[in-house]
Amino acid sequence: MTEVVRLKRLDFLQFSINKHPMTILLTGATGKSATPLAKLLLEANKSVVLANRSGRVPAPFRGARFDWLDASTYGIPFEVDATIDRIYLIAPRILDMLPPMKAFIDFAIDKGVKRFVLMSAGLIEAGGPGMGLVHEYLASLSVEYCVLRPSYFFDNLLLIYSDSIRRSNEILSAAEDGLIGHISTEDIAEQAFKALVNPVIENAQPILVGPELLSYDQIAAMLSQVLGREIKHKRLHADDYTKVLMQRGMPEDYAQRMSGADVIIAGGAEERLFKRADFVGKRRLREFLEANKDAQQWRAKTG
Ligand SMILES: NC(=O)c1ccc[n+]([C@@H]2O[C@H](COP(=O)([O-])OP(=O)(O)OC[C@H]3O[C@@H](n4cnc5c(N)ncnc54)[C@H](OP(=O)(O)O)[C@@H]3O)[C@@H](O)[C@H]2O)c1
Repeated sequence: MTEVVRLKRLDFLQFSINKHPMTILLTGATGKSATPLAKLLLEANKSVVLANRSGRVPAPFRGARFDWLDASTYGIPFEVDATIDRIYLIAPRILDMLPPMKAFIDFAIDKGVKRFVLMSAGLIEAGGPGMGLVHEYLASLSVEYCVLRPSYFFDNLLLIYSDSIRRSNEILSAAEDGLIGHISTEDIAEQAFKALVNPVIENAQPILVGPELLSYDQIAAMLSQVLGREIKHKRLHADDYTKVLMQRGMPEDYAQRMSGADVIIAGGAEERLFKRADFVGKRRLREFLEANKDAQQWRAKTG
């Protein structure tokens, strides 16, 4: 083949690739990480469908009703857009998530999906519990995949921890002096964007952390400065922390897993993770606290 013919063929291939319609489906679409991710995709003019249980999503996005625990909804996103070929996977909040996730991944591959980006967690290895089993399943398939393994999200301070901050000016944990490299969901979204959009996935299981390692004592001191009232870190035994999480509505098995993670953190697991991170976010926790200092979730409860 002459050089000219080869180049023409490459041009044609490039043209076909660019012309091939591509749509990205985000599950967990109205959640903490998919919200900034959807914004990035919109800004980059990518075709996106957002899925959650109601199918109600903010304008100008297209929404699809989708429930991990109801297989009759699996086809709905593909009815909204038949060209979906990449999917961002946010697991349902159950411990035994592999059966529904495996069923949907298989269904999506039959529909022509070529790439999956799974939100897992820094401390969960492939084959490990929960998302680790989904990670292992993706790796066993002939598809492109990326498993994001972030540390804890800044947002937890507004969500999981805010109840006791509001009621008694306390952050409750079983993590003792364990250090954590909390990360911004905006930094995670930038990595998810690359994994979904780039022609090639460079790292199939990146560990993502924020720029600093902090204990809950240090976070409580930072939050005290930002809110202008004293917030303390109350150290709980893991069993007591499990009960707290259950009182906040978490199922018992999930609450046990979460407080078990705190015990591992107390033993230095997140600190070790930080040292082998593949990506360090640029946004700092202090900036997040400042940006949200007037949030209703942190207002001291009076009376
Ligand atoms: N928080 C952390 O510090 C942290 C750290 C590392 C990893 N992670 C992992 O991150 C994941 C959560 O991601 P996120 O925080 O971005 O999401 P999220 O804020 O928890 O949002 C959950 C999303 O999923 C949807 N949803 C809930 N149940 C559903 C179901 N049965 N079927 C379909 N959609 C459902 C929700 O919308 P509707 O309710 O409207 O359906 C919402 O859009 C979890 O797997 C967690 O383990 C979290």
